[in-house]
Amino acid sequence: MFLPQLHQRVAQGTKLAVLTCYDASFARLMAENGIDILLVGDSLGMTIQGHSTTLPVSLAEMVYHTAAVARGTNGKAFIVADLPFGSYQASPEQAFASAAQLMAAGANMVKLEGGAIMVDTTAFLAARGIPVCAHLGLLPQSVNATGYRAQAKEAEAAERLLLDAEALQDAGAQLLVLESIPATLAATVSAQLDIPTIGIGAGAACDGQVLVLQDLLGLTERPPRFAKNFMQGADSLAAAVRAYADAVRKGEFPGPEHSF
Ligand code: KIV
Repeated sequence: MFLPQLHQRVAQGTKLAVLTCYDASFARLMAENGIDILLVGDSLGMTIQGHSTTLPVSLAEMVYHTAAVARGTNGKAFIVADLPFGSYQASPEQAFASAAQLMAAGANMVKLEGGAIMVDTTAFLAARGIPVCAHLGLLPQSVNATGYRAQAKEAEAAERLLLDAEALQDAGAQLLVLESIPATLAATVSAQLDIPTIGIGAGAACDGQVLVLQDLLGLTERPPRFAKNFMQGADSLAAAVRAYADAVRKGEFPGPEHSF
């Protein structure tokens, strides 16, 4: 699937259901059960590799998992792949070289974390045919600076996030992940921008939601506030994935209890 088809779904008012995905079996299951975007997230550092942060994940590992996911979907889903820590922050040229490997492995878009500092890199990639998903709010690759806690709660930080979002859109970003920010701020950003916003711990007003697969499966030891176990009440993996997609489309997930 390509970007115009994704934008068409949003224009029709359909909320986008996004799940993290790291292998071919789950990729096929998700593509066949209503998931619009498969995010090969560097959260695989925790969910697959057992690290405590995303920082140790290498570009080669991201390429490996992106290729597996792409083989599983056989062109039937839109794949976003994370640029891992250290593979893009040095320069737009470094980001292009890394992003090119993910695109060659089967990604339809790359995701990078950061605000104003990523504007030039976003423009550089977009101008060279690489669709970019920006990521604002809690940035897991910056956990050493911020810890894992909700971001942009104060007025000044909220204003900065809104300006960053507009600057990234103007630079050519085509999608924006908003992680762990107040629901009211995510609603403002979503209303201000033309590009779709995808929330995780950012309330129900975003144009779509993303959930980490292991949170959906109930496998996370200490699930974050914004997580929900969709295996409860489901009699198969396919039913759980469909329940998640339906809940997102109907606006039933996330509820206020999942938001800040
Ligand atoms: O890596 C990941 O899973 C992510 C999501 C939390 C948005 O970036």
